[in-house]
Order: sequence, then C-alpha cells, then structure tokens
Amino acid sequence: MELQPGADWWRNAVIYQIYPRSFADGNGDGTGDLLGVISRLDYLAALGVDAIWFSPWYVSPLADGGYDIADYRNIDPQFGTIAQAETLIAAAGELGIRVIIDVVPNHISNEHPWFQAALAAAPGSPERARFWFLEGAGPTGDTIPTNWQSSFQGGTWTRTTNPDGTPGQWYLHLFTPEQPDWNWNHPDIQQEHLDILRFWFDRGVAGVRIDSATLLIKDPTFPEASEDPQCFPPGQHPYIDRDAIHDVYRSWRAVADEYDPPRVLVGEIWLADTVRFANYLRPDEMHTAFNFDFMARAYSAPEFRASIDATLAAHAGVGAPATWVLSNHDVTRPVTRYGRDDTAFTFATKRFNTPTDLELGTKRARVAALITTALPGCLYLYQGDELGLPEGEELPLEVLQDPMHFRSGGVDPGRDGCRIPLPWATDATDNFGFSAATAAAAPGATSAPSWLPQPSWWGGYSVQAETDDPASMLCLYRKLIALKHGVAELADGVFGWLDGYPDDVLAFRRGALCCVANLGSQSCELPANRTELIRSAVPDNTVEAPGGAPTYLEPDTAVWFTV
Ligand code: NOJ
Repeated sequence: MELQPGADWWRNAVIYQIYPRSFADGNGDGTGDLLGVISRLDYLAALGVDAIWFSPWYVSPLADGGYDIADYRNIDPQFGTIAQAETLIAAAGELGIRVIIDVVPNHISNEHPWFQAALAAAPGSPERARFWFLEGAGPTGDTIPTNWQSSFQGGTWTRTTNPDGTPGQWYLHLFTPEQPDWNWNHPDIQQEHLDILRFWFDRGVAGVRIDSATLLIKDPTFPEASEDPQCFPPGQHPYIDRDAIHDVYRSWRAVADEYDPPRVLVGEIWLADTVRFANYLRPDEMHTAFNFDFMARAYSAPEFRASIDATLAAHAGVGAPATWVLSNHDVTRPVTRYGRDDTAFTFATKRFNTPTDLELGTKRARVAALITTALPGCLYLYQGDELGLPEGEELPLEVLQDPMHFRSGGVDPGRDGCRIPLPWATDATDNFGFSAATAAAAPGATSAPSWLPQPSWWGGYSVQAETDDPASMLCLYRKLIALKHGVAELADGVFGWLDGYPDDVLAFRRGALCCVANLGSQSCELPANRTELIRSAVPDNTVEAPGGAPTYLEPDTAVWFTV
C-alpha cells in the first residue's frame, strides 16, 4: 500500500506515537533506534496505522528524554543517522504510513551552541538576547527575577557564573535548568524555526507535533504569575497562551502550506478554556491538537459525555477535527489508571504504591478503546497501549531518569514507568525481543540490557504473545483500526447521543452505527435486533449476529452495532 494522496488524511487518521528510546533496538545497545523502527514497520502496517509521530530523535543530552535538543538538524547517534531517518520515512511511505516529528520550540538544550555562546557572552550581548537573561532582584541581584513555578516543580531561573567566578545573570527555563527558554520576540528564533520546519518537510515528513505549544511568548516585563492561570484576563498570563503566539503559528502554517501535499501541524495544547484552545485550530493556524481534556477525565459516563460535548462544540466552531487520546509518554498507562480508585489523570497526584486492579483497568481500557475509535476525528495510540501494557511500577529507584521524579523530591514516581522498552517476544532473551534485530544481524551476538529494565512478567504482554490471541488487546486494536478505516459511518457518519440509556451508560451513534459503553455497575439492555460489529469483552468480541448474543451489556463492556 502506498501513501494515498488525500491532503485531508489527518482528519480521520490513526496516529501511533513512537518513543524512539523504547520502541525497538536495532544495534543491540539496549536503546531503541531508527534501525529498530525500520525492522518493525511491518508490525505497524499490520496494525493499520496511518502515521507515526516520533518523540524527539535529535541530538540531545537526554536531560528530559530528548525534549532538550542540542542539534535540530541531526539525529542523536544513539538513535541513528539522517540517512536512516530518510530511509525510514521512505520505507514507511511505501507501507502507506506517514511520519510526523516532534518540534520543541519553547526551549532548547543548554548544550545547544547558541546557548553556549550566550553563556560565554556578556550581559546585554546579541548572543544573550536570544534567551531570557535577567539581572536578579534585590540590591545584589541574589533574588530570582520572578517566582514563576516550573511545570516540573521548583523555580524557573538558574543563575550563571561570570568568568571571574562571581554570580551573574539568571536565565529562564520553564522546565529544567538544562532547557533554557528561547526569546520568541527575537527574529533569529522565529527564522530558525521556519528553517527547521523546511529542513524536515524537505525530507518528506508529513507534519510536526508542537511541544508545549502555548508557552512560547513571555511578557517581557516579567510580572509575577499566580499559580492559577485563570487569574489573568484571557491572553494576558505572563507566559501561558499569550495572544501574540498566534502569529507564530500563522507563519508556520504558511510554510506547511507551501508543500504538496501540505504538511500538518499538531499542537500540544493543555488549556482548560475550550474557546482559547480552539483558537489554535483556526483555518490559518494548526490542523489539530491533542485532546487532553478527554485523556485526563475520570472513567465515568457523565465525565466522558461532558468532554465529548465540549470537544465537538469547540472544534465545530473552527472546522477542525477532534482528536481522541488515552495516553502518551508523559502519563500513566490507561490499564493502570483505570484500575485505580481515582481514574482521572493529573500530574500533581501521581504517587508510588497506588493500589491498582489491573484486570478491571484492562476491561475499562478496552471500553475506552471502543469509545475513542468510534468518535469522529483522529485516534492517537501511544506505543504499548495496543498491547495493554501496564505502567511499569517496579523500577528500582536508582534506574529512574525522569526529571519530574527528581524535581518532586522523589515524591512523584515520574514518567519512566510508561517508557520501558516494548516487549516483542515472550522469551526474555534480547530484552524480550526489543533488541532482537541484533541477533538476527549477527548470530550469537548478545544485547546490552535495555536502558530501563523490563519487568520479569513483560513477555506475557509481548507482540508474540498477543498476535494470535483473539482475547488480546492487540487483536482488539487491530480489529478496531480496520473498522475505523473500513466502515463508512466512522469516516463521515453524523454524531448524535442515543436516548433511553441510563446516565452511567455512554451511548452514541455515528450515522447507522451505534456505540454503547456501560461504565456503570448494572447490566444495561440492548436492542434485540442488532448486528454487532465488535464487543470489548473478552473473549467474545467477534459476535456478528444477534442469534446467541446476550441482550444485556455487562458493566465495563462496550459494543458497536447496527439495528
Ligand atoms: C511536553 C512533552 O511531552 C514532555 O515529555 C516534555 O517533558 C515537556 N513538554 C517539555 O518539553
């Protein structure tokens, strides 16, 4: 299958997120890489995805898992080379799979040459003007310029040291000190990002996922920021969602539209205000954005219903398609989260040793899979969720790498638990097949241990274990994705809520196709004369006709049918 030309492919696509360190290892060093991805493209084609979104693959000291970029125009040697990236993009294209890459415009690595030049230069120099270097407050400049709080906890300013060893200016970093923020008022920064977009668009990438997309523009007067963003009039928070940011994305859209087919812009936009959110999706800005509202909601029909209503209304206003997201490389895996007392997601409440019922969580994640695949728009699938991987919570403290863990003083387990290398084989050899490509290339060669250790029970969740098991999450996702592509209603069927179901049952239609999901604790009645397409319950997810099918839908079960 070759790439279908349709310029609008992104309106109804399935997009699979690869975290390159953890997807597949092609050279046996225990870290995922591009050769590994190339060796597993057939798997993605069989899964039926339309595109891959790569978390950053650029040169990086990995202070924040690659979201600290030292060179945008090169692949980190751990992951491969530019030539391999080009091979990958072409090989994926031959299988009908597009490639979207991450860009991280808010900040850069402290090892980036422009930041190194800024550190070496004097206060007030052109080199420092590309970042936010400020004098400290107080008579001796010892006090931080503002009390802005980092998204990773703690402050947002780090002090420099002058060549003579005395303390110098402070620089701004909304994340870690290794991620200095760019000054987006500077023309060099604007131009550099347009050039980076062209660099990758010229190499055939289909679009970009834009990291921390609401944070770029700062109030240059640096007022104090309240912890509650709502305290400021819309567009006037010192650094979140400032009005001027839209000019940036208009300029990016103009570059994306120079290409044939046009390239796609996908925003990482965490905003509670749906109108402000939708502003990013106006026809001359981004194409789509992640639906974090839905992702973070508790597993509850009223919660999901409210999010779906708000999402569809906000997107309708700007003519953009919605996206449906259950997780990514930053959040607790769904089978774990939905198996807990508190099924909502917030960064603030992640803790070690939270009791989890994985069997229940898995049933519910299957329900959520049926819901999200049936809704209009794009489906995002984070690597390993198609296997129903739980969060890896047994990682020894000494292997943890995530700055969110360290900056919380060790209270937050961080995000390593959803980044453990994937299990491809049932047997533990070669890191459960994660590094299998090595042995294939050089018989007898052994692989280094994976960069994060895999749990001993990982093999039961492997691709090999799940491929031919009709009860597996993998088989469920394969079937769901095939239906999303094959059933016309799921492309253009009008969405509407179905009446007559209890409040804790989510029931909607897409044209003639009905999706009913029982999130409550009582069975609910289904219409007698229905034809089922798919059911979330194990093992019976292949009922084709009403003949022997039960008339009731059990709790934590979902079904698609026509009547
Ligand atoms: C959002 C990314 O998804 C996350 O992984 C990263 O740590 C922050 N942005 C900072 O770049």
